[in-house]
Amino acid sequence: MAEQKILLRALAGETQAVPPIWMMRQAGRYLPEYKATRAQAGDFLSLCYNPDLAAEVTLQPIRRYGFDAAILFADILLIPQALGADLWFVTGEGPRLSTLTSQADFDKLGSVDNIHETLNPIYETVKILSRELPSETTLIGFAGAPWTVATYMIAGRGTPDQGPAHALMQENPAVFEALLARITAATIEYLSMQIDAGAEVVKIFDSWAGSLKGDTFQKYALEPCRQIAAALKERHPDVPIIGFPREAGEKYVGFAKATGVDCVALDNSVDPEWAAAHVQVDGCVQGNLASRHMVTGGQELVDDTRRIVRAFGKGAHIFNLGHGITPDADPDNVQLMIDTVRETVAAAE
Ligand code: CP3
Repeated sequence: MAEQKILLRALAGETQAVPPIWMMRQAGRYLPEYKATRAQAGDFLSLCYNPDLAAEVTLQPIRRYGFDAAILFADILLIPQALGADLWFVTGEGPRLSTLTSQADFDKLGSVDNIHETLNPIYETVKILSRELPSETTLIGFAGAPWTVATYMIAGRGTPDQGPAHALMQENPAVFEALLARITAATIEYLSMQIDAGAEVVKIFDSWAGSLKGDTFQKYALEPCRQIAAALKERHPDVPIIGFPREAGEKYVGFAKATGVDCVALDNSVDPEWAAAHVQVDGCVQGNLASRHMVTGGQELVDDTRRIVRAFGKGAHIFNLGHGITPDADPDNVQLMIDTVRETVAAAE
């Protein structure tokens, strides 16, 4: 059997001299080659649904930097669209969707059985990538977590405090919970199809988990993630899962055990030494360099990168940012980050 890819070894819990490296949003507007392919596609959604071009932008950061993982190019909001919500992107502002605030709105959603009609091009992208990626690169599929996806479906857009979703949770818990259940069921089928098409790892992005306080975190972040992980593990026991309950703070502790995910991705608000002691004790962690370093670079980037590599160096770790790279990032700073990770390890030996 070929030696296992280094990202898969980290996910299996192995401590490695050099941690595998990839970056959230590594295919994106900070890269001139991404902007060129996006212009060719027309707009962002046309790019997502064009398998050849989506595969091309997924490969661009692999060619440029040799990352250890490629993440499928798509978006977490394709699930709402596949369930029948209207979706469009306003340049410079972000996503817009039809809003969902009542039983009548919920009743208009399509069934989980029909999502693949919309999502088939995404599975096609995965198939192309599993043929074309270098043999050492791991292919990561993904979906949004039900709570995060619901926040966009309810408000019809991104919101700073997820206010409309919290309001529906209070005022109409039956509709709110039915919506979460529908997204959860759709996500299981979507990720399962990505795995059948060739995804070797899947990641669940709960970008707004941090706004769930008290027992709502348990009910609406942890529990849906546990259900998705349990269903996927039954069908695909060997496929590792990364959970990302962003801004969970102290609730990162025990999250992997409680949900069954193999790795927890950490945002940059948690201290790496604290996370090594309290989260990494349960297995692999991913993160947690601040994305702003990709804009500002310099000695601070080097110092923070070294600190993270050293803090997590005694256990299983995947080096990554704490959130996505931003369009104003400098591609040279990404190379500086990669070089620093490798040099830090070499210096420690
Ligand atoms: O990481 C990757 O390279 C894979 C592709 C990927 C995208 N979005 C492409 C994208 C992934 C994994 C996502 C996840 C995603 N999408 C999340 C969760 C992670 C996070 O950032 O918190 C969320 C909340 C979304 C929803 C979304 N998509 C928003 C709010 C926006 C607009 C904000 C922005 O950055 O413009 C998008 C658009 C989007 N998704 C872009 C990309 C490359 C930019 C679109 C463009 O090219 O104009």
